[in-house]
Amino acid sequence: MRITLGVTGGVAAYKAAELVRRLQQEGYNVQVVMTRSAREFITPLTFAALSGQKVITDLFGDSSGSEANLESAIEHIAVAQRTDLLLVAPATADIIAKFARGVADDFLTTLYLASTAPVVIAPAMNVNMWNHAATQENVEMLRARGAKIVEPDEGYLACGMTGPGRLAGLEEILAAVREVTKSQRDLEGETILVSAGPTCEDLDPVRYITNRSSGKMGYAVAEAAAKRGARVFLVSGPVNLETPAGVERIDVRTAEEMHRAVVEQFAQASVAILAAAVADYRPVERRGEKIKKGVAPLAISLEPTTDILAAVARNKGEKIVVGFAAETDHVAEHARKKLASKNADLIVANDVTAEGAGFDRDTNVVTLFSRDGRDLALPKMPKSEVAQRIMDEVIRLRALRQAPAARHSNV
Ligand code: PMT
Repeated sequence: MRITLGVTGGVAAYKAAELVRRLQQEGYNVQVVMTRSAREFITPLTFAALSGQKVITDLFGDSSGSEANLESAIEHIAVAQRTDLLLVAPATADIIAKFARGVADDFLTTLYLASTAPVVIAPAMNVNMWNHAATQENVEMLRARGAKIVEPDEGYLACGMTGPGRLAGLEEILAAVREVTKSQRDLEGETILVSAGPTCEDLDPVRYITNRSSGKMGYAVAEAAAKRGARVFLVSGPVNLETPAGVERIDVRTAEEMHRAVVEQFAQASVAILAAAVADYRPVERRGEKIKKGVAPLAISLEPTTDILAAVARNKGEKIVVGFAAETDHVAEHARKKLASKNADLIVANDVTAEGAGFDRDTNVVTLFSRDGRDLALPKMPKSEVAQRIMDEVIRLRALRQAPAARHSNV
C-alpha cells in the first residue's frame, strides 16, 4: 500500500520522521510531500534519507530556476494516482482550511484535490486555533466528506498554553491508518481471475487480425482487486502495460490460448471478470508463408472462436462471473441480452464510440447490468475508478448470494 504523507509547518513536524519509520516497518511504501512552511521546521533530506524516496516540495519543481518544470507540474496527478491513502501529520489550521475550501496553491493541496484515496488527518496547532469556530467548521466539513480525523491530544503546547492541540500519539495515528486501510481490503479471501487486452489471430507469419484494446480497463480491474486484498490472476493478451503489484500474470496471444488459460485459472477462482476483447473470429487457415500480393481480390475465410465467457459461466456454480459488452448502438438492449445468453452475474457495458469511453482511453463511461435487475449508469470517470465500482458490485452480488444461506442457517 502506498501512503502519501503530507507534512505541514508546525513544531510537531519532527515527529513525522518517526512516523515514516513506523509506517515503513508496517510494510507501507511512504512518499513524503512537504509544504513550504514545513521546511522551516525540518529538512526534506531527513525524510528522503528515511523513506529512500525523493521528497516532493514544489508544484513546479525547482522554483529557483527560470523555466518551470512541466514534468513536476503534472507530477501531482501521477502521485495522486499512485496514492492508496493520504495522511497529513501534522496538519496545520491552514492546510485544513485549504482542504475544506478546495484551495490548490501548492503540491499538497493540489494532490488532495486530484486524489480519490481515503484521507487521514492528524491536526496539531495552538489550542485557540484548534478551538476557533473556523477550524472546527473546516474539520467538520472534511469529516463529512469521509476524512478520518485523529483528534489532537490535550497537554502542554509548544506555544506555552495548555489544552487540545498537541499532535496525537504515533500509536493513535497508526491505528487510524490501519483501520482505514483494512476497510479497503474487503476482497480478502477472494481469488479473482481477470482477462485483459486483445487477442491476435495470425493469418501468416507477418500478419494478424486484432483489435484496439490496450488492456487498460482489465489491468485497472486487476489492480483494484489486488489492492482490496484479493489474490489475482491476470490472463493478458499482448499489451504494453506493467503488471500491477501483487498480481500473477499469464501472457497469451490468441483466443484459443486465452480460452485455455482462463478455463485453467477459473478452477481456483471465486470470481471471474472478463474484460478482454477476444477475437470473435479467427482465420480458418494460418498460412506457413507470407501471403503474396496479387491483383485479384483476396477472400479470407474466418471461423468463430470459443465464447470464453459463456463457457466458464455455464458451470459457474457459486462463483461470480462478470463480463463486459463493447457496443456501438442499442447498448442496454445488447448488454441485457449478453447478461442472459452468457449466464453472467454482471455485464459492464460501454459504448465504445462515446467520448472518453472504450478502447485505449484512461477513462470510461459504463453501465453495470446486474443479474438481480439493478442497472447502474456511471458518469465518465478514470478506469481505475470504474474498476473500484465493479469491485463494489461484486461485493454486493456476493452478499446477495450469501444472504439466503445465512437466512437458512438461522432457521
Ligand atoms: O483494453 P482497453 O483499451 O482499456 O479497452 C477496454 C475495452 C473496450 C476492451 C473493455 O471496456 C471492453 O468492453 N471489453 C470487452 C470487449 C468485448 O470483446 O466485448 P464483446 O461485447 O464483444 O464481448 C462480450 C464479453 O464476452 C466480453 O466479456 C468478452 O471478454 C467476452 N468474449 C467475447 C468473445 C469471445 N470469443 N469470448 C469471450 O469471452
